Amino acid sequence: MKAIAVHRGETTPRVVDVPRPTPNVGEVLVRTLRVGIDGTDHEVIEGNHGGYPAGADRQILGHEAVGVVEDPGDSAFAEGDLVVPTVRRPPGDSNPYFERGEPDMAPDGMYVERGIAGADGYMAAYFTSPPEFLVRVPDSFAAFGFLVEPLSNAEKALEHAVSARSAFDWQSESALLGNGPLGLLTVALLQNSFDRVYCLGRRDRPDATIDIIEKLGATYVDSRETPVPAVPDAHEGMDFVFEATGYAKHAFECIDALAPNGVAALLGIPENWTFELDGGRLHREIVLQNKALIGSVNSHVPHFEAAADSLVSFPDWFVDALITDVNPPEQVARAFERRDETIKSVVEFATK
Ligand code: NAP
Ligand code: BGC
Ligand code: ZN
Repeated sequence: MKAIAVHRGETTPRVVDVPRPTPNVGEVLVRTLRVGIDGTDHEVIEGNHGGYPAGADRQILGHEAVGVVEDPGDSAFAEGDLVVPTVRRPPGDSNPYFERGEPDMAPDGMYVERGIAGADGYMAAYFTSPPEFLVRVPDSFAAFGFLVEPLSNAEKALEHAVSARSAFDWQSESALLGNGPLGLLTVALLQNSFDRVYCLGRRDRPDATIDIIEKLGATYVDSRETPVPAVPDAHEGMDFVFEATGYAKHAFECIDALAPNGVAALLGIPENWTFELDGGRLHREIVLQNKALIGSVNSHVPHFEAAADSLVSFPDWFVDALITDVNPPEQVARAFERRDETIKSVVEFATK
């Protein structure tokens, strides 16, 4: 079967022919429909994040997938069910994080991530998985169900941020985000619960991401003209910042962008970058203004379920506007090309 992999010493993914996987006892065989590409995939390919499966000279990419159950084995799934796989798996034997259903909270070494860190991903005509790592989604999700995974990361971060403000009457009116696909999905998510949503980018008009931001009712902010701490808001700062650019300075600049009692969730994965900052002042600001900074990574089944519910609530036009490029596996080079007009690029192995 066809798969898309990156090889050691290379930074360009290519199509490879690999044997169709045979499910182990208890596993489900899934026929892949679509696999999305995100900023993390590019970081993996460039060698800035994740790593190869132990002893392997190549890694099959892809962690945002939707597929159809081909062989349910003895699971509760039925042939033909549409499913989305979660990303983390135990590194060999299970461990307490997996046993209590919180692999997203596991520290390094206690998990592998399919398509990212230490395990092959889903960018192949078929994949196998234990059933507890598959989430059933409605049949209508065949074309966009792979968006459940990135949106689930946002659901988790929002849940943690809100929990970090749960000890008092938090006024959560305004929010600020980045404009990659993760940021845009989160703009759609936050439009329902925040009065004012600002989305940061560095794009000139006309631009499809700016169109989506504005059509969702949010405000575009050009970071080249308005640095993060200066983003205007009548409420004197942001109650919530969702950092999804991976631009390392934003992680610290957002402390000044926050309103008193605000919380920032950091999701972007930056490259190593050493720079100076006024640590004492920022530390004081966090303490004296009751601000919170949280990091958030990955997600698990409840976040996937919340994401599937949220996707249904988004405006009808949204997923079509987000998914700009659908490529067969043979067009792997085009699928991974970073063009200004590309928002979400997808590899399509089959249709339902
Ligand atoms: P992406 O496609 O790389 O998008 C990043 C966006 O940030 C791009 O639109 C980029 O703008 C913008 N950006 C970068 N630097 C900027 C700056 N200085 N000012 C304004 N905008 C800036 O990535 P993604 O898929 O949306 O994901 C975003 C980040 O989150 C990545 O680092 C990814 O690895 C990470 N991530 C983390 C999790 C988690 O669980 N923590 C989950 C998913 C993704 P241009 O396109 O104009 O360059
Ligand atoms: C994935 C997460 C993963 C994170 C860190 C994100 O792009 O969507 O599932 O945990 O990268 O590797
Ligand atoms: Zn991702």
